[in-house]
Amino acid sequence: MVADSVPSLSVNLAPNYESGLLLTNPVMTASGTSGFGEDFSKITDVSGLGAFVTKTVTPKKRSGNPTPRTVETPSGMINSIGLPNPGIQGLLDQEAPHWESFGIPVIVSISGYSVDEFRYLASCLDGIEGVAGLEANFSCPNVDKGMEFATQADLLSEATTAIVESTSLPLIAKLSPNVTDMRPIAVAAQEAGAAALTIMNTIVGMKIDVIRRRPFIGGVTGGLSGPAIRPIGVRFVYQVYPEIDIPIVGAGGIRDSSDALEYIMAGASGIQVGTNNFVHPDTGLSIVAGLEKFLKSEEVSSVQEVVGIAHAEQY
Ligand code: SIN
Repeated sequence: MVADSVPSLSVNLAPNYESGLLLTNPVMTASGTSGFGEDFSKITDVSGLGAFVTKTVTPKKRSGNPTPRTVETPSGMINSIGLPNPGIQGLLDQEAPHWESFGIPVIVSISGYSVDEFRYLASCLDGIEGVAGLEANFSCPNVDKGMEFATQADLLSEATTAIVESTSLPLIAKLSPNVTDMRPIAVAAQEAGAAALTIMNTIVGMKIDVIRRRPFIGGVTGGLSGPAIRPIGVRFVYQVYPEIDIPIVGAGGIRDSSDALEYIMAGASGIQVGTNNFVHPDTGLSIVAGLEKFLKSEEVSSVQEVVGIAHAEQY
């Protein structure tokens, strides 16, 4: 690479889809950490990100789980938010009109209790202006049946097929770390037509309030996120990467470009920032700058060249 040339950060998260899902850089928000974007776009320049992933929408409005819903833990946090959202109609009426102004692809996170609910949501979002893709939240640990789809390959396959048949939007399947081996689930998602995979959602955990002698969180258990879980996420990405041909989006405990590069070198083409958005809403932007700096200093012309490089036999 010529010393002063700008390395390419661009990525296509849906190379198997005619439309593709083209991002100018691999850095996204993680669902549930920046709402539906309107408020987040007032505190950071979302146009500098690769894509915005919304909070999860369900067919009907939900008010979420009992409080307290969050608690800090060593190097992370536990949440049991419970997917509060305005329902698909509320989303289309109140939130979707803002998305075109972001200037980047918006990926809508969807969740249902049944295959039919996933099918319904996908058909409602098909052709909506400003929507570039879907992320199926098959892995929420905080609602009834929230993780069933990402822990049973046959169910995941059925839901993925139903979504893919109901929309031309590329589908990213968000998988759960609450399994012993993610590989068969990942392969099932690919075979059913997923464009890409997000690895991973949060890990089920809990905290006891020793004064009250009760679980701290209103929902009793919740999803552990933050830097504490990053080594687990990197491990899952590294294990799944050789088994599939579709892109992986890495998520879990990413705070800076070095964390992002761990996921990328393990095999992720894209990355998502979640918990750290609560600390520094500009985290995604500084990761974009950090990736560019790294590639320049290493004289690498494209981020794609380092995707999965940790698998190479020789340095
Ligand atoms: C929630 O709303 O409970 C968090 C979403 C998730 O973990 O999928």
